[in-house]
Amino acid sequence: MADKARVAVMVSGTGTNLQALIDAQKSGLIEKGEIVLVISNKEDAYALERARKEGIETFVITQKASGGRDGFEEACKEIIDSRNIDLIVLAGFLMILSKEFVTYYDHKIINVHPALIPSFCGDGFYGLKPHIAALERGVKVTGATVHFVNEIADGGEIIAQKAVNVEEGDTPEILERRVMEQAEWLILPVAVAKLCRKIVKNRK
Ligand code: GAR
Repeated sequence: MADKARVAVMVSGTGTNLQALIDAQKSGLIEKGEIVLVISNKEDAYALERARKEGIETFVITQKASGGRDGFEEACKEIIDSRNIDLIVLAGFLMILSKEFVTYYDHKIINVHPALIPSFCGDGFYGLKPHIAALERGVKVTGATVHFVNEIADGGEIIAQKAVNVEEGDTPEILERRVMEQAEWLILPVAVAKLCRKIVKNRK
């Protein structure tokens, strides 16, 4: 639909953040956006099932099959550009994209990170690792961040953040789940909704 921003979601795993976006689209929160494409760099990502169930077009592009990161990114560009994508959401996408790729899509790629940037972020901090580091450091508050993606890992402009308390007895898994429930699944859909509204408004 012309009055909606076309959204691509890139995933690597379970896809609970993708599910939060799908639910937000269904509930009308993401009123001016439509998820039209899901790309996974992992064949067995459960996120693919979530997308297929909704009839969203999916692609699996592995680095191995495409001859490394350059080949992977070329294949992604071809698909993304041929589908006139306005916004690319990295939702549990666990690969670092090249400077060329992120510059090509300047201010069109956003990411959700499971910590309060600038804490526990950058190269090597993905999945459970920020939570393990947060518990080791003994912080009492952590959270999640949605940010634009630039050439520095987790270094782009911050769009939204939400704090979550660390509780006595937390394991990395328990903390990960709380950060998802209390932060990621809330701030990512809101950020996508806001950006989609802006994209559509700027077209007029
Ligand atoms: C989420 O916690 C997300 O923030 C994190 O991976 C998890 C994926 O969960 N992303 C990163 O660490 C990126 N640096 P999901 O597949 O269920 O959405």
